[in-house]
Amino acid sequence: MILDVFSNWNLIRTAGFLAYFLLTISIMAGLMQKISSFQNQKQLLMEIHKISGWIGTLNVIFHAILLLFDQYVPYQIWEIMIPFVAKNEPFFSGIGTISFYLFLIVMLTSDFFLKKLGFKLWKKLHFLVIPAWVLMILHGIFIGTDSEEIWAIIIYSAGIVLITTLLMMRYFESKVKVVHRKNAN
Ligand code: HEM
Repeated sequence: MILDVFSNWNLIRTAGFLAYFLLTISIMAGLMQKISSFQNQKQLLMEIHKISGWIGTLNVIFHAILLLFDQYVPYQIWEIMIPFVAKNEPFFSGIGTISFYLFLIVMLTSDFFLKKLGFKLWKKLHFLVIPAWVLMILHGIFIGTDSEEIWAIIIYSAGIVLITTLLMMRYFESKVKVVHRKNAN
């Protein structure tokens, strides 16, 4: 019974959801840092942003490694590494792979290549998290076994509502700043 809980399939799903949860938290914390209402929590938000981003990315790697050992739908390493060549759900597996590469680019450029790239290019690359996040959600919803469960619907919907709200807040604040700057000149 206890072994059932730790079956490979359960671990694949848990790692997938944990990755989704942590990467969503990371993006939320990143967006909140620049919104005026959260300015006094900037330091804390930055720590959450970094830590959840890395642990989320490592969870994706765990999710993918476990797929190699799945009893029912085993993946070959190239089916995970090369988008759209998997026998199982090639399209939705493929967007999972692309999402992972985009997250990896963002994490690596932030921690190791920021100085080399310069702030402007780094910032452009950093916003790849948004398409990465959209692909991750589509991947989870359309390939996952749990997508019709009420708890999964709540988890996916909460992520979508929160990220969309924060993106809109960022957008409107940036518009207000532009108007203020124009009025000041
Ligand atoms: C950013 C990258 C990824 C994230 C965040 C992610 C997340 C998820 C989530 C949330 C689920 C739903 C689990 C469920 O409903 O039970 C899932 C399922 C799945 N993922 Fe991923 N995934 C990623 C990358 C990949 C990659 C690269 C592959 C392989 C090519 C893959 C293969 C699968 C498979 C086969 C399932 C179905 C498991 C099942 O429910 O039977 N994922 N993933």
